[in-house]
Amino acid sequence: MDNLRGRVTRDGIRIYEPSDFAGIRAASQVTADILDLVGPLVKPGVTTAELDTFITDEIVRRGVTSSTIGYKGYKHASCISVNHVVCHGIPGPKVLADGDILNIDVTVTVDGWFGDSSRMYVAGTPSRKSARLIEVTHESLLRGIAAVKPGNTFGDIGHAIQTFVEANRMSVVRDFCGHGIGRVFHAPPNVLHYGRAGSGAVLEEGMFFTIEPMVNLGRPETKVLADDWTAVTRDKSLSAQFEHAVGVTADGCEIFTLSPGGKFYPTW
Ligand code: MF3
Ligand code: CO
Ligand code: CO
Repeated sequence: MDNLRGRVTRDGIRIYEPSDFAGIRAASQVTADILDLVGPLVKPGVTTAELDTFITDEIVRRGVTSSTIGYKGYKHASCISVNHVVCHGIPGPKVLADGDILNIDVTVTVDGWFGDSSRMYVAGTPSRKSARLIEVTHESLLRGIAAVKPGNTFGDIGHAIQTFVEANRMSVVRDFCGHGIGRVFHAPPNVLHYGRAGSGAVLEEGMFFTIEPMVNLGRPETKVLADDWTAVTRDKSLSAQFEHAVGVTADGCEIFTLSPGGKFYPTW
């Protein structure tokens, strides 16, 4: 409807048009495809810089743009967060060892639309507790996504994630959140991964945002290292994260960043 074109809610959340779904879907599917392709490269002995170079080359090969290179001074096409790194790990000379767990987070811009997603990978064979952390984190994202439909609130999403994670005696990171996305990378609202049912803004058809819970085996507190990017758990416990971008539909949501190869969830 023309009178709704360009509408922004009183919480500052943009309502996109039905025709906008195709644009963000296309960008998101580029990201998801790259996250599929990098999977087989994750092995003991590889460096995180090598994984980032592969991702950069894939972005260039497709003629699309990295959204993170140049973003607030960031210099890489991915964030790679290993073991107790919560998020925003900088690719570098770190060599992966057997049993390391890592999140790879990629954002690309395609025709002005942002595609943002991250997944967990394992170098070699994970420990039982690492595998459980990854499983619980992934399931918490799915529970959050299950709460996405018109009339529910952002608090319902956070509540679904937090109750599941804490029932499994793990903790939800409070210091980082999901975000509105679309023709901008980070837009309102802050999508919290914890909260009270029924709190926060009401979900409406046409809202586009990410859900990207970070879950720790130990305490939820984080700190940022001297490089001003790398966020780690204060207690050095392992941390995991999955991120999808979703759009609210009439009766639920579309997950824009679903794996084209059905590989979103790690196998080992
Ligand atoms: N992709 C991240 C997110 O999920 C943001 C990374 S910004 C960077 O929002 F500069 F660290 F790459
Ligand atoms: Co994001
Ligand atoms: Co991301």
